[in-house]
Amino acid sequence: MIKTIIEPFKIKSVEPIKFTTAEYRRRILKEAYYNLFLVKAEDVLIDLLTDLGTAAMSSKQWAAIMDGDESYAGSKSFFKFEEVVKRLTGFRYIIPTHQGRAAEKILFTIAGGKGKVIPNNTHFDTTRANAEFSGAEAVDLPVPLALETDKYGDFKGDIDLEKLDDLIKRTGKEQIPFCMLTLTNNSVGGQPVSMKNIRDTRELLNSYEIPLILDACRFAENAYFIKLREPGYSGKTVEEIAHEMFSYADGCTMSAKKDALVNIGGFLALNDGNLAEKARSLLIMTEGFPTYGGLAGRDLDAIAQGLAEVLDEDYLKYRIRSVEYFGDKLLREGVPVLVPTGGHAVFLDASRFLPHLPARMYPGQALAAELYLEGGIRSVEIGSVMFGKETDGVFKGAPLELVRLAIPRRVYTQSHIDFAAEIIIEVFKRREKIPGYRITYEPPYLRHFTAHFEPTEN
Ligand code: F0G
Repeated sequence: MIKTIIEPFKIKSVEPIKFTTAEYRRRILKEAYYNLFLVKAEDVLIDLLTDLGTAAMSSKQWAAIMDGDESYAGSKSFFKFEEVVKRLTGFRYIIPTHQGRAAEKILFTIAGGKGKVIPNNTHFDTTRANAEFSGAEAVDLPVPLALETDKYGDFKGDIDLEKLDDLIKRTGKEQIPFCMLTLTNNSVGGQPVSMKNIRDTRELLNSYEIPLILDACRFAENAYFIKLREPGYSGKTVEEIAHEMFSYADGCTMSAKKDALVNIGGFLALNDGNLAEKARSLLIMTEGFPTYGGLAGRDLDAIAQGLAEVLDEDYLKYRIRSVEYFGDKLLREGVPVLVPTGGHAVFLDASRFLPHLPARMYPGQALAAELYLEGGIRSVEIGSVMFGKETDGVFKGAPLELVRLAIPRRVYTQSHIDFAAEIIIEVFKRREKIPGYRITYEPPYLRHFTAHFEPTEN
């Protein structure tokens, strides 16, 4: 029986990658203060830093780019984009932005503010930063299973409805302008949210008249997991499932740099006309005229085409299976991987990988540095560097110490993934010798991007 799921495309244009020596990488990493965000991309062999804006566009998307209409107002590209997004989401008002966080910034500016509370299954870091910058409090309510990296669950991305109800009762519904659901739940491992959880969230919010906004960056991956795992959905198309997911919400923020398969773009979609009016006024001041947002006309064409391609089930089968394939290879060798693997990335559990390093020695940072030194693989720490704090000498760690290997869409082939797995397994074999790190410089906000580190002596 034939079991191999092949990449559902052939390659028309290639970009060479640079091979380096271990000695070269040691020098580069030291010069970058052991922070992979400060390493030049050309010094990376396989870049698994993020799945954001790193997709390979299709020949049809490149053709659509040539068809872009760059008129300031009323561009034909906008109407094509608007029609595709309306058909997909069913929302009434579609506002293009240059990426997801620009949509978040507008939404939180018009609906957030001091004293407001925003619940979410888990806020992504820019979502949290935008909520907090507006003066609001961002509250994460993942289900308890989400924090157990070694326990399987079909929908570990769900929101905890009991805690949500408690929060609304304690806070008062007037203080909650909307509740969010992040599909898939990036921060807990790219785990999906079930249709039942979306529907039940909607019902609970209805009783308090609180709107629901989806963070829809990875909506197609989420819909495909529902098709695979949730009773009653195997016979539906991913498009039908996506329609149903959106039907329970009052709007969404979207980073098109993920499931619209483009390198730049996003949107805010809303049903409330008053809110949309306010959003558009702000858009004109910060992003651009409402028929292009922060984008060129051609980008809108590429998004419209990408949204059609991402719903192709041969693509989604390959996408989800290739991430799972990566995870399975590591699990077979005993590498501690967050299970089940999510939609866009494999997450290594650095606390179990490097049990000799306590959180304050940043095991995730140590592991990410080692993967680069061993094989030029770039990953990202999602642990106490990103979410921990040290206030007045008191260290507060993150709930999980993870290293994320995010897979860009349609970019790497199976042999790149095989190679990356071999590098991780090599590092795993010599894990006891890996040193911890200390921070030698940090900026006041979002320190992971620019902090400096040095290895500690074990
Ligand atoms: N929401 C989620 C769940 C995200 O993962 C991201 C970005 C955003 C919002 C913001 O969108 O980048 O277009 O402004 N995630 C990237 C990542 C940065 O690497 O996971 P954006």
